[in-house]
Amino acid sequence: MLFDRVKPLDAILATAEKKSLTRTLGAFQLTMLGIGAVIGTGIFVLTAEAAQKAGPGMMISFIIAGFVCACAALCYAEMASMVPVSGSAYTYSYAVMGELIAWMVGWALILEYAVAAGAVSVGWSGYVVGLLEATLSINIPDTLVAGPFDGGAINLPAMFIAGLVTWLLVIGTRESATVNAILVVIKVTALTVFIILAVPVMNSEQFSPFAPTGFWGISMAAASIFFAYVGFDAVSTAAEETKNPQRNMPIGLIGSLLICTIFYLLVAAGVIGAPGLSAQPVTTAAGAVLEPGSRELAAQCVTRAAEGFKDVVCSKEALAFTLREIGWPQIGNLLGLAAGLALPSVILMMMFGQTRIFFVMSRDGLLPSAFSKIHPKFNTPHVITIITGVAVALFAAFFPVGQLANISNSGTLFAFAAVSIAVMVIRRTEPNRHRPFRTPLVWLIAPLAILGCVYLFVSLDYKSIVLFLVWAAIGLLVYFGYSRSRSHVGLGHVEVHEDDADAPPPPVPPAPSFN
Ligand code: ALA
Repeated sequence: MLFDRVKPLDAILATAEKKSLTRTLGAFQLTMLGIGAVIGTGIFVLTAEAAQKAGPGMMISFIIAGFVCACAALCYAEMASMVPVSGSAYTYSYAVMGELIAWMVGWALILEYAVAAGAVSVGWSGYVVGLLEATLSINIPDTLVAGPFDGGAINLPAMFIAGLVTWLLVIGTRESATVNAILVVIKVTALTVFIILAVPVMNSEQFSPFAPTGFWGISMAAASIFFAYVGFDAVSTAAEETKNPQRNMPIGLIGSLLICTIFYLLVAAGVIGAPGLSAQPVTTAAGAVLEPGSRELAAQCVTRAAEGFKDVVCSKEALAFTLREIGWPQIGNLLGLAAGLALPSVILMMMFGQTRIFFVMSRDGLLPSAFSKIHPKFNTPHVITIITGVAVALFAAFFPVGQLANISNSGTLFAFAAVSIAVMVIRRTEPNRHRPFRTPLVWLIAPLAILGCVYLFVSLDYKSIVLFLVWAAIGLLVYFGYSRSRSHVGLGHVEVHEDDADAPPPPVPPAPSFN
């Protein structure tokens, strides 16, 4: 029997009850949490990638991706409020659809979190390198600041930031609410200033042709730009700490997604309409649209820059580039500084999420127990943090940001679809279980979320789809070759640990905070 190993929900919930968190978060704090986790490389960097795929039509892509995320977010919130323990989609799937699906979801979440941390590291590198060039005239050769697919050899700044964040996590850093609030203010201010300066000078002629690559191009851009919305699960997982979750949870989720969507649309409009720039896709001489993150595009960008063209799609720091080109060089630099300061916190959250998933899977017996070893002094899962950090640094060193974002999206879409299925299954199997938050119109919203995830998944580039399938096949081999026979549920130990509710345990003695 393949689907019989379910981790009883009551055992999971008994765990959560051991550590009851006080309900302190209101709608405003939840919205801030969401914005803090969501705004990052997607808008600061991938806008250029989306423009290469869809031209001005990327504005529709932002709306599509935001809508799919909103539907998935509402499903996530019901599960998170019923099963408020760590492990997110992995834990929900274990309780509802059994170990095999849970394993596949956990395995896909590795793509989501670790690869996303790599993508954000590459995004950070683009802004910091641009800032060093613009302010201190430090020109680092492309060989050292871009991976081999992107016109260079190795991205050293991206490796550096991934290493730094790993070290912060090993010594027990967790972002405090205050730091999150400061970073939200920095990010939102940077985007607001961009909008104030760029939107009023927009040249409406630059919106034409609006969809040079047609609906397929818009879909492909939506599949990439989906990355810009990832991270809201941070809001869903705070369900247990939320006052009146039935009211505040949807406000926090939908509110943060809506605010982000409005910002994204205005920023995209500012980029597209910037006088003197072009947000149309760069093509070969024969008119074929070049693939983002390819050597061919990098080479064509060099040629076009030498001829005096100013293509947004060629920039690794699209927003700072736009401001510099429309006559605000110093503000462009400040925006670069804001990205340089704020993006590491997104990397930190992603890597923290990754170690948490690994930790829970290891504690369930599905991964080696060495992974959940805790450092005697820092009280952090250092082994798995370092393994994750090395993997993230390697992704960041060699792959282009858009490719990493797409690979991460493939894992995220799988996990979102699984949660949307789980929410319907458990409505049928356990209709009377207490749900602090119920997804509104679940029989409409959950199928829409699933369809949306499938649609975005098939709109990804074929390399990411193939990589996802290969990754899933490896996952099945590991499961049947290693994990299945060692699973604690399979062996009949459904024990409840003291610390289960929020693994890994918080650092004691007091650890340095991220401020
Ligand atoms: N949404 C996050 C970002 O765009 C992952 O960086």
